[in-house]
Amino acid sequence: MEAIIKAARGTSDILLDKAVKKSHVERRIMEIFERFGYSPIITPTFEHTELFTRTIGEATDIVSKEMYTFKDKGGRSLTLRPEGTAPVIRAFLEHGLTSMPMPVKLYYSGQMFRYERPQAGRYREFYQIGVEAIGSSDPLIDAENITLLHYALTELGLSELALHLNSMGCKGCRKDFAASLKKDLKERARDLCDDCRLRAASNPLRVFDCKNPNCIESLKTAPKIGDYLCKDCNDHFDAVREALGDLGIDFIVDSSLVRGFDYYTKTTFEVRSGALGAQNALGGGGRYDGLSEELGGPHIPSIGFAIGTERVLLALQALDIPPSATPSLDLFIISTDEARREAFKLLMNLRKAGLSAEMDYGLRTFKGQMKLAGKMGATFVIILGEQELARGMVSIKSMAAGEQTEVLLADAAGWLIKNLNRNKEA
Ligand code: HAM
Repeated sequence: MEAIIKAARGTSDILLDKAVKKSHVERRIMEIFERFGYSPIITPTFEHTELFTRTIGEATDIVSKEMYTFKDKGGRSLTLRPEGTAPVIRAFLEHGLTSMPMPVKLYYSGQMFRYERPQAGRYREFYQIGVEAIGSSDPLIDAENITLLHYALTELGLSELALHLNSMGCKGCRKDFAASLKKDLKERARDLCDDCRLRAASNPLRVFDCKNPNCIESLKTAPKIGDYLCKDCNDHFDAVREALGDLGIDFIVDSSLVRGFDYYTKTTFEVRSGALGAQNALGGGGRYDGLSEELGGPHIPSIGFAIGTERVLLALQALDIPPSATPSLDLFIISTDEARREAFKLLMNLRKAGLSAEMDYGLRTFKGQMKLAGKMGATFVIILGEQELARGMVSIKSMAAGEQTEVLLADAAGWLIKNLNRNKEA
C-alpha cells in the first residue's frame, strides 16, 4: 500500500468541533466589527510580489525570508499573501474607493502564508481577521481601533490580556532615529548576530525584530524611537493615550514594539495573552500613513490591525472557555424502506422551514437509525413508516422525554417549531 499523504508542514486541517469553534469565533468577531461600522472586503490570496516588497519592506523578515513566492506559467512573480493590509489598500486604490466618505472602514478574514518555523501558535498557513480604517489621521480613530481589538478579545471571554503601545513616528523622526541607531549599532556590532549586522547597514530599525536572545539583551540599551518623535507625532501619541485613558483601557508603553513591517508610522499596538507561550500576540496593528503613496496613490492616512484566529482559539482553550456549543440537530427522520422517498421530501421541506434535520443515508435498520439519531444528538425523531404514510401522519418522539405524538404530515414543521421553541424556553 502507498504511504498516506499528509498535510504540508506548518499547515493543518481544521476538523469537526475545532472547525465549529473557529467559525463561531470568526462570526462573533465580525459581528463586533460590524457594530463598529466596518464592512467586509475580500481580496485574492495571491498578489504581484511587488505589492509586498514595496510596502512591507525588503529588509523585513517577512519579505526577505518568509514569503511564498513563485513564477506562474506566464512568468509573473506572484506571492501568497503574508498579510492583509497591502492587498486591501491595493484594492481600495484600484477600484477608486477614494471617492467614498472617509474613513472607509473595511474588515477581512482569511488565510495568510508565511514560511516560518512552525511551533505552537505559529504556522505557515494561518487565519487572520482584521480591520482597516482608511482615510483618517484623527487620533480618536487610533483609540477606536485599539479599543476594538481589545473589546473583540474580551467579548470572547479572554482575560490576562496586556495591551502594548508605541509610536514609530513619521518619516522625519524615523530618519533622525535611524541615523543615531546606526551609529549605536556600529559600536555594539560585536554583541549582535550576523543578520543584525546586515540589518544595521540596510535598515537599522529591523534589528528590533531579531529573536536572538543576545541581540534582544544588547538592544535594551539602544536608542529609543520615543526620544526622537517630532512635535506632531508626540501630540498624536499623547492624544491616543488620553483617549484610551478616558475609556479606561490599560496599556503599557513599550518602545520595543516596532512590529515587523516598514509601513508603520506613528501608533503601533499589540495585545498579548498571559495564557499562551512564546507566540503570545493575539493581534496587532498600527497606523500606516504612507502606504497608499508607496503604491502610487494619494496621501491616505490609515490604521488597522489583525487578530490571529488560531491563537485566539488556543487562548480560549488555555483558559478553559468554551467558544460555542456544538450546533444542535433539531430532528432526525427514521423511515422504513418503502417510506424513504417520502422521508426525503419531508427532510427537504423541514430544512426549508428553517429546521436542522437529518436522515439516514447508510441504509441502516430501524434500530440502527434510532442509534444514529441518538449519537447525533437530535432533539426529536420523526418516525415515518407505511402505516403512518397511508394515514398521512408522522410520529414524533422527544429524545429526552421519550414521549411520542402523532401529527399530520402537513403539520409536522409547525408542530416542531412550536415545540422546539418551548424546549429552548424551558
Ligand atoms: P501581524 O502582527 O504580523 O500583523 O499579524 C497579526 C496577528 O496574526 C498576530 O498578532 C498573530 O496573532 C497572527 N499571526 C502572525 N503570524 C502568524 C503565524 N505564523 N501563525 C499564526 N498566527 C500568526 C499583520 O499581519 C498586519 N497586517 C496587521 C495590520 C493590519 N496592521 C495594520 N493593519
